[in-house]
Amino acid sequence: MFASDLLRDRVALVTGGGSGIGLSIVEQYLALGAKVAMVSRNPERLAEATAALKERGFDNVMGVQADVRNYEQVSEAVRAVVHRFGSLDILVNNAAGNFFCPTAAMSSNAWKTVVDIDLNGTFHGCRAAYEHLDASSAGGCIINIITMQALSGWPGAAHAAAAKAGILSLTRTLAVEWGPDNIRVNAISPGPIGDTEGARRIYEERGRAEQERSRVALGRFGKKQEVANAAAFLASDLASFVTGENLIVDGGRWLKYVSEK
Ligand code: HXC
Ligand code: NAP
Repeated sequence: MFASDLLRDRVALVTGGGSGIGLSIVEQYLALGAKVAMVSRNPERLAEATAALKERGFDNVMGVQADVRNYEQVSEAVRAVVHRFGSLDILVNNAAGNFFCPTAAMSSNAWKTVVDIDLNGTFHGCRAAYEHLDASSAGGCIINIITMQALSGWPGAAHAAAAKAGILSLTRTLAVEWGPDNIRVNAISPGPIGDTEGARRIYEERGRAEQERSRVALGRFGKKQEVANAAAFLASDLASFVTGENLIVDGGRWLKYVSEK
């Protein structure tokens, strides 16, 4: 649907790019002409995704192993991407951890683990990428993947809700701090997206898929491609005056939820 050269010669790094929504964003960026790096902890997952993408004719793709909780590893990943592709224009902080756990049963380490991956990992990505995004001739772009439960709260996932709320705050802070450097910083809030680990853990495994579907105004789960479309728009020059925004891609789920009481 977009012009096929929309992201030509842009270099993107997508954390958690080896699976789910992140992998769809990687595929979309490659199809639009970008050079793309995927970051994940799992080298087998990266090798498999890289091989599958190369098979489809995408040569400008690389996998980099790193744990986003570790700043040195994230910095090293950014250096490897710039070494291979020559610059870094787009950072997508998509890596996340989540599991259903009532707060009264949640250990301190369980809380810390999710906050570390989601919130600290996003800070690490932004901080490590800053100098390269600042130097980008196209203008730098950061996209943080969150959820509207960051605003509503999330019974059974307090760790993820709090971490994503922190990411929204960081998004807005950096949009203002780094605006003068021509770096745009935005968030995307997907609703429930089918065929993902997130939906499997939070809804399907718990027998809540039908209930969740009925809470979406459009009456269905979203597709990974529909989130990737939003990520393409925000990364492109079509969004050149958009920063500090939270683009909701949830089929009207949050509006239906608040209007239903
Ligand atoms: C209670 C749990 C738990 C569970 C782990 N813990 N799973 N507690 N219920 N189901 C606790 C552990 O007991 C431990 O605490 C602490 O959390 C850390 O667990 P580890 O297994 O050591 O952590 P680690 O190996 O670092 O793995 C991180 C992880 C794992 C988050 C726990 O699930 C993971 O790697 N997830 C990545 C993939 C993922 O989550 N994808 C979904 C993203 S979807 P103790 O106290 O025992 O030491 C999303 C939004 C979905 O984010 C939106 C809605 C659809
Ligand atoms: P997913 O496939 O499990 O994606 C999460 C990715 O993060 C995995 O590729 C994982 O790779 C990576 N990751 C986790 N911990 C990491 C760490 N410490 N360091 C580096 N990488 C790490 O799940 P998804 O459902 O597609 O979720 C993607 C994003 O969308 C998340 O931000 C999630 O919160 C958000 N979201 C999803 C939904 C939904 O319906 N699915 C709804 C709203 C928001 P490794 O395990 O290989 O490291």
